[in-house]
Amino acid sequence: MKRRLLALALTVPLAAPLAAAAGESGLVTFHTKCSRCHGEDGRGQAIFNTPDFLSSKLDAAAMAQVISKGRARMPSFATRLTPDEIKAVAAYIKAGLPAK
Ligand code: HEC
Repeated sequence: MKRRLLALALTVPLAAPLAAAAGESGLVTFHTKCSRCHGEDGRGQAIFNTPDFLSSKLDAAAMAQVISKGRARMPSFATRLTPDEIKAVAAYIKAGLPAK
């Protein structure tokens, strides 16, 4: 019993950095770092003055720029996400959000 608990205690912290090294998926990044301001469905929240992604005129590349550099009250994620994670979350916003 003790040994099983020890094995569990060792695998959980080892698995997390491995997942991070491979890069978070756009969906995971969106729901952990973006949805509190942009809404679970990406439609924006009046209280944060966030736009509705589904009617955005930006393409995925332009969105990646905003995500990396920030804009107005949109924070920069250049130091918190890798370029691949930024691309993945931009692609998720363009293609993976639930339809209206
Ligand atoms: C602290 C709140 C906050 C968080 C967290 C946040 N955003 Fe934003 N975001 C904003 C605001 C506010 C704007 C509107 C900026 C403006 O008025 O120019 C915005 C704008 C954007 C835009 C531009 C949309 C357009 O059509 O012009 C994109 C893309 C975007 N955010 C993506 C993200 C992603 C991806 C994340 C998570 C990695 C994220 N945001 C996290 C507040 C936030």
